Amino acid sequence: MRTEIVPVKEALKLPQGSPVAVRGWVYRRRDLKKKAFVVVRDSTGIMQAVFGEDSRALSEARKVTVESSVVVEGIVRDDPRAPGGKEIVGTGIEIIGLAENFPIRRDASREFLLDVRHLAVRSRRLTSIFKVRDTAFQAVHEFFRSRGFYEVHCPMFITAAVEGGATLFEVKYVDGRKVYLTQSSQFYLESLIFSLEKVYTVAPSFRAEKSRTRRHLTEFWHAEAEAAWAHLGDMMKIEEELIAHITRRVLEKRREELELLGRDIEALKRVEPPFPRISYDEALSILEDKGVHVEWGEDLGADEERVLTQEFDKPFFLYGFPEKAKAFYHKNDPKRPEVTLSADLLAPEGYGEIIGGGERIEDKDELIAKIKKFGLNPEDYQWYIDLRRYGTVPHAGFGLGMDRLVMWLTGIDHIVDAIPFPRTVNRVYP
Ligand code: 4AD
Ligand code: MG
Repeated sequence: MRTEIVPVKEALKLPQGSPVAVRGWVYRRRDLKKKAFVVVRDSTGIMQAVFGEDSRALSEARKVTVESSVVVEGIVRDDPRAPGGKEIVGTGIEIIGLAENFPIRRDASREFLLDVRHLAVRSRRLTSIFKVRDTAFQAVHEFFRSRGFYEVHCPMFITAAVEGGATLFEVKYVDGRKVYLTQSSQFYLESLIFSLEKVYTVAPSFRAEKSRTRRHLTEFWHAEAEAAWAHLGDMMKIEEELIAHITRRVLEKRREELELLGRDIEALKRVEPPFPRISYDEALSILEDKGVHVEWGEDLGADEERVLTQEFDKPFFLYGFPEKAKAFYHKNDPKRPEVTLSADLLAPEGYGEIIGGGERIEDKDELIAKIKKFGLNPEDYQWYIDLRRYGTVPHAGFGLGMDRLVMWLTGIDHIVDAIPFPRTVNRVYP
């Protein structure tokens, strides 16, 4: 091969008549009597090469199988029928790795695709989703850094529940002790605000979720932030600006992928602050009007959230959850102690909760009392209580479920496709 290899995306910009070489994997091959079409994909796109009778490479082109890795050389020609409007008139094809019969067919079931996920990740659909995911993660870091938050890293092995015992993963530690996988880095972030003031982390969180739903993973990616001196309203502002920043970046950089996924672009363009804010009480009365009864005090589930999302055309906050609907660390509203200074952010279009957060209890005695009220043992939370002994300050924070965010941004109907290798109640392989 004499021509310099370029990414497919670059090759598609070359003028007719340019010599070109690309490398990648065979997306499909079609044989006609006198010619063969080989569509090659790389990380940047797909491009068709045509090998005619006059090409010495025709017989070689007829040997390639779907997913074989190849280098293709030829001359660029404009052709409106080809994907991207151009094709390569092939003069040479080098087979690097001849693929065996690829097991994935067009009509493969979702379950089968998950069984062969290590191969299914090559699809254009998943590739597009993962590019949106990449942009979203990058935007999270950009945002927090631009706001003066320090990035920190917290342990995954922990000794007590953050979000309730029902979803704790138990692990046998090296010395035989019983420890758990973290459900949230929140408590560690709280300890770091006493020096760094504003901190964030992007890390996995683990939940032993027993139910199969479209929006639960057992291992998910969590972007969490915590800030000293911050109150609920300050955090809600940061949350809406973060979500707007990520969405803008995705619209800027990933328009092509969103279009390939069939995403409603207009819906994403509406994601600009301020987001509507409704109280838990207002939510219950909206639900009541729609024939959905929720007993005051109960948390809202996916079904109730879906009904509420019909009322809004952009993300919206639900604030003021009852004490018993939220984890023990939430600060109760001094003006109305039966509710907490908490807020969830819900994505529209039926998606529901993507962020949970709020103000934390800063008073030691109040925290101990609430731990007991929740039937938990203050002994298990010694170090967390300690934070309230030495220079306690008001503070607030939140956690954004990155996989749920990607699910909504890409408009897909199941969280498993928002992450390359999903871990769910019944799936840990491949
Ligand atoms: O609402 P959650 O449980 O809140 C916390 O963990 C807080 N400690 C966060 C904080 O304040 N630092 O979880 C936060 C978000 C949810 O809104 C959701 O987007 C996501 O994490 N999440 C999950 N995503 C996928 N699969 C699961 N099983 C999830 N559980 C929570
Ligand atoms: Mg929550």
